[in-house]
Amino acid sequence: MIVKTEEDINGLKEIGRICAAIRDELVSKTVPGITTKELDEIAGVMFEKEGAVSAPKGEYDFPGYTCISVNEEVAHGIPGDRVIQEGDLVNIDVSGSKNGYFADTGISIVVGDGNEVLKNLCNTAKLAFEAGIKKAKPGSRITGLGKVVYQTARQRGFNVIMNLTGHGIGRTIHEEPEYIYNYYEPSDSGLLKDGMVIAFEPFISTDEEEVFEKGDGWTYITEQSFVAQYEHTMILTKNGPIITTL
Ligand code: CO
Ligand code: CO
Repeated sequence: MIVKTEEDINGLKEIGRICAAIRDELVSKTVPGITTKELDEIAGVMFEKEGAVSAPKGEYDFPGYTCISVNEEVAHGIPGDRVIQEGDLVNIDVSGSKNGYFADTGISIVVGDGNEVLKNLCNTAKLAFEAGIKKAKPGSRITGLGKVVYQTARQRGFNVIMNLTGHGIGRTIHEEPEYIYNYYEPSDSGLLKDGMVIAFEPFISTDEEEVFEKGDGWTYITEQSFVAQYEHTMILTKNGPIITTL
C-alpha cells in the first residue's frame, strides 16, 4: 500500500508493535526442550489478547499462528512436536493484522552455544538488511536493495536464496511490489515510492540458491544448506524508512 493518512501510519505502527512483541517473546522462549507448537501457542495467546489476527492463519489457513522453521527448514515451517535443541538454527516469522493493517517480521537465531558459522550467517542476514535499508529511498530502484543484499552475502562467504523474496504489504500480507529479490535483477525496473510499505527480508544461505517445498504443502527446505532470514515491515519516506516492527 501507499500510506496516505495519519490513520494509516498509526494502524501500521500498532500491528507492527504487536508482531514485534510476539517475535521477541518467542525468541526469548526458544530454549532447549520447548516444542515449536508450545512456542506457537504463546503467539496465539498474544494475538488474541491484542485483538489481532495471525496472517498465515487468517489469510492462508496455515496450520499455526506463526511460521517456525528449524535447521534444514527455511520458511513456512509448521509448528509441531519438534523439540528445540542446543545449537539449532531457528527462524521465527510473525505476521498479523489488526483493523485492516498488516505487519510481517522475522529473525533467525542460534539456540545457546551454536557454531560460529551459523551465528555469522544470522549476523550476515541482519547486515544485509541494514545495507538494504540505506538504499530504501523513494525514487530508487527496488532491485537496488537486492544488489546490496547479494554483495553483503558474497563478501562474507555466503550466498542468497533466489526464490524467496520480500514483498509489498499494508492492507494485505502480500501486495505490490510482488518481489524484492535477494540479488540484482536487471529486468525489475520497479521504483520505490514515497509512502510505500514493504516487508524487506534478506535470505542468506551457506551454499544453495534455491529452496523447495518439502511435500507437506508449506515448508520450504534446502538439500543441505543452512539459511538465515531477517525481516521488518517499513514505511518508505524521503527522510528514511519508518520501521514498524522494531
Ligand atoms: Co515474514
Ligand atoms: Co514477508
